[in-house]
Amino acid sequence: MQTDWIAILDFGSQYTQLIARRIREKKVYSEILPYSISAEELRKRAPSGIILSGGPNSVFEEGAPLCDPALFDLGIPVLGICYGMQLMTQMLKGTVQPGDTREYGHTRIAIMSGTQLFTRIPKEFDVWMSHGDQVATMPEGFKASARSLACPIAAMRHEGKKFYGIQFHPEVAHTQFGIDILENFIFGVCRCKANWKLESWVDSAVAAIQKQVGEEEVVLGLSGGVDSSVVAVLLHRAIGKRLHCIFVDNGLLRANEDVQVKEMFENKLGMDLTVVDARERFYSALKGVTDPEQKRKIIGREFIEVFADQARKFKNCKFLGQGTIYPDVIESLNPLKGPSQTIKSHHNVGGLPPDLHFELVEPLRELFKDEVRAVGRVLGMDSVILDRQPFPGPGLGVRILGEVTAERVALLQQADLRVQEEMCKLPNAREIWQSFAILLPVKTVGVMGDQRTYENVCVLRIVDSIDAMTADWSRVPYDTLAAISNRIINEVRGINRVVYDISSKPPATIEWE
Ligand code: XMP
Repeated sequence: MQTDWIAILDFGSQYTQLIARRIREKKVYSEILPYSISAEELRKRAPSGIILSGGPNSVFEEGAPLCDPALFDLGIPVLGICYGMQLMTQMLKGTVQPGDTREYGHTRIAIMSGTQLFTRIPKEFDVWMSHGDQVATMPEGFKASARSLACPIAAMRHEGKKFYGIQFHPEVAHTQFGIDILENFIFGVCRCKANWKLESWVDSAVAAIQKQVGEEEVVLGLSGGVDSSVVAVLLHRAIGKRLHCIFVDNGLLRANEDVQVKEMFENKLGMDLTVVDARERFYSALKGVTDPEQKRKIIGREFIEVFADQARKFKNCKFLGQGTIYPDVIESLNPLKGPSQTIKSHHNVGGLPPDLHFELVEPLRELFKDEVRAVGRVLGMDSVILDRQPFPGPGLGVRILGEVTAERVALLQQADLRVQEEMCKLPNAREIWQSFAILLPVKTVGVMGDQRTYENVCVLRIVDSIDAMTADWSRVPYDTLAAISNRIINEVRGINRVVYDISSKPPATIEWE
């Protein structure tokens, strides 16, 4: 779709996604590809530049990931970062050796001679390093362009071939001038034009959907979350009433969520929406179940069955829309990751029964979350939907510890509503990653008026995070905590105690189950 773009070959660094984001923020399209992609494939796709990412391996290790050596013959500029630099060195017949000391964290480097990569950058600056090995002798034709105390060749280049290697990570915020270095590569060396615009992306995505779907119909599971909502609006723009949205009310939603979804998608946007009231079905499947993983599995299984039953009714639908976004794609592509340990089994519309042969329509596959939101804005969507906090697929089912019943759901919904109403009043409400209530299977003694009470405990979980991988409890003002607590205890009958969760992730998780 794009003429100017940067290919990032992924060797498994935790920062690979960051490189892609930093480049897209500069309005140049970038895509993460498996490190094993062939030079032939790259030649066909004609990127303006190639970045070899960092990675956890050492080039000396048996089975260390290698790229196709022929990519160095394509005449395309290459930037190797950390492992990528060492790999480039090894493949072009230089040598790499284990360093005397491991450099990890902040390091100061000094530029030794001018290179296009370091244009308009001071002679000395701080960078973020994380390496054990380092380049000992450079391949033929290369010159060193920077050094640090522990690493005599902290950067190198072959200006004629436009090959560059840097031992530090320009994509992380701790590296000074890191963005400038990436800019020098993409604009200075690779001559990219900044033409990756979401407005034009929307137009081409609409055209691509129309081409894929033709005159056929599409069914979509709408959860009310950001991704599925944006897909719904995008598909609706492309094919109108040939899109059929299915919203499953599993009885584990937040207060009024069903009403809001109906109001927004059916009344305001005029979409074809089927709301399936499956509350009783979920409650009876969850009866007596207290184990968190079992609850998740039941909720996932019921969801798929309910959704499939409904989808079968749309006999003419050949396609299934999905809100898959780029991090999901990368996650499943990551070449170095073996089967990772299941911490919690996240569910989505994965395994539909075999009689439903849908072709997938996944128009957001190449976008990051913030880009999905920006697309939503281009499509004129309301911030009520776009700035929603993440909400787990199993919903309140994993926020009610112990058995899930209709009564306990109603109790938690009322408590949670008060949390939302009070949190909204904070000027920085939008910056808070998640704020919600959890219901414990614990009763405590209290006193109301002259009466002894023996009622439920509710936990407040309010966290700051940037990607949900790590999180810390939010330092919300005491007055807000007081208002939430007062309102819940006074207004929600059945709860007589509110506590605040002050655990960070890791070692805790954001949700309690
Ligand atoms: P944890 O609890 O693992 O949560 O720290 C990280 C983020 O993921 C959300 N979450 C889920 N999202 N299905 C989802 O779609 C799930 O099963 C699920 N479990 C947790 C959680 O709300 C947080 O934002």
